[in-house]
Amino acid sequence: MTISDPGTDRRVFRPAVLDLGDALLRPWGRDLDVPGGLVPALLAAAADPAVARWSPLSSSGPVVAETYLDRCAERWADGTAASFAVLDAADGGLCGNVYLGWTNRDDGVAMIGYWLVAAARGRGLATRAATAVTRWAVEHAGVRRVELFHAVANENSCRVAERAGFPYEGTLRGSYTYGGGVYTDEHLHARLASDPFTD
Ligand SMILES: CC(C)(COP(=O)(O)OP(=O)(O)OC[C@H]1O[C@@H](n2cnc3c(N)ncnc32)[C@H](O)[C@@H]1OP(=O)(O)O)[C@@H](O)C(=O)NCCC(=O)NCCS
Repeated sequence: MTISDPGTDRRVFRPAVLDLGDALLRPWGRDLDVPGGLVPALLAAAADPAVARWSPLSSSGPVVAETYLDRCAERWADGTAASFAVLDAADGGLCGNVYLGWTNRDDGVAMIGYWLVAAARGRGLATRAATAVTRWAVEHAGVRRVELFHAVANENSCRVAERAGFPYEGTLRGSYTYGGGVYTDEHLHARLASDPFTD
């Protein structure tokens, strides 16, 4: 993986492009160029059943999608969260998303989340993208600990966590609602800055 990063200030996320070879991670914003249009691609991704079930991304219409893009850009601008679109390196198509934002900036604690469109699953892209964003955040934004939460029933996400070097730390009871007003148990996985990256 190669990293282009214009800044190294501690505990601020500065816009960067991460190159995974077969995919590029670029900051979300309305200016992203995606074949067929960014908003339609985002709405199609949000309508995927697994994304709709496990991610907070909303498919309720273009205005909401544009608001989401603006919120990502605002958080990049103030350095509080890093939201990357995962784009196919060959055709620029939207493959997915990796989000990393502070939960306790003073202590250097952040959380990570991700989704992939169905066509991009099953080839390790989520694992590699989550690893790359975590490594970038450790090396360029002073992140000390990255936490990863997933519903106990979300076994695909559990496998991404383990493959990306986030060991299971425990089960949180009734900790989050993934919609429908029902609170579900979640696994907590985490990775420390001192955990070695293998690539
Ligand atoms: C969670 C999610 C991103 C996982 O996607 P995924 O494609 O299974 O994960 P990866 O991209 O890491 O690919 C891993 C799969 O590719 C396979 N694979 C193939 N080549 C691989 C490689 N070079 N490296 C790693 N895995 C590889 C793995 O065996 C694995 O398959 P398996 O889980 O059947 O064993 C996806 O299911 C999703 O978007 N779900 C909806 C949103 C969601 O749940 N987000 C998380 C909320 S906490």
